Amino acid sequence: MDGNGRWAKQHGLPRVIGHRRGATALRHVVRACVQRQVQVLTVFAFSSENWHRPETEVKALMVLFMHSLRREVEKLHEAGVRLRFIGERGRFDNALRQKMEAAERLTADNSCMTMVIAVNYGGRWDLAQAARALAAEVSAGQLALDAVNEQALGKHVALADLPEPDLLIRSGGEQRISNFLLWQMAYTELYFTPTLWPDFRVDDLDLALTWFAERERRFGRVESTQPRVGHA
Ligand code: FPP
Repeated sequence: MDGNGRWAKQHGLPRVIGHRRGATALRHVVRACVQRQVQVLTVFAFSSENWHRPETEVKALMVLFMHSLRREVEKLHEAGVRLRFIGERGRFDNALRQKMEAAERLTADNSCMTMVIAVNYGGRWDLAQAARALAAEVSAGQLALDAVNEQALGKHVALADLPEPDLLIRSGGEQRISNFLLWQMAYTELYFTPTLWPDFRVDDLDLALTWFAERERRFGRVESTQPRVGHA
């Protein structure tokens, strides 16, 4: 969800207003994804690198997360959305951590769509924590060294229980992954749009879905498979 800061600058507003408008854009996109029967929607809300932003912006983002959770969780629950958070939670304050856990508990049995919010998440962190978990199994004698392979590591990365992402949408014009789901996105179709996130509307989502539907997905093979967005 890139481009909140630039959107604010273009409108002569503080960056935090850009993030607030970004939260509004997200609300519309989530609703549209449920309507379009997307199985899993993962959003990158705060990267491990975002702590390096000015303290006032980091604080404002934390307030916005808390406010958004207070405001949205009940509505998401009613819409049948299961909420999950991925990332290193230890750095967040207690109140926010408790709110995330409560949201996960409340919505655990919902099945319309899973919404994953990546907070203090980094793809390299994810791989390192998966490697640590595997190493612990080996050192406890639960796993043979020879059994350390892609499948074994894949069981420990975030979202291991969910289908791999089919489509990545990055707004804001940059064409890079920025340490998002590095392992999980090995075969993800990458869609980049110059639209700044606060301006991203349901029409932009539909453009991305239409683009995706025309992709030929071969997964390294010769024959293609029929595209269908399960995880965006
Ligand atoms: C990147 O834009 C955006 C963020 C770091 C924050 C994203 C947060 C939201 C959209 C708020 C709502 C989210 C939830 C889960 C409630 P940027 O600031 O890097 O923009 P720039 O590249 O134009 O500076």
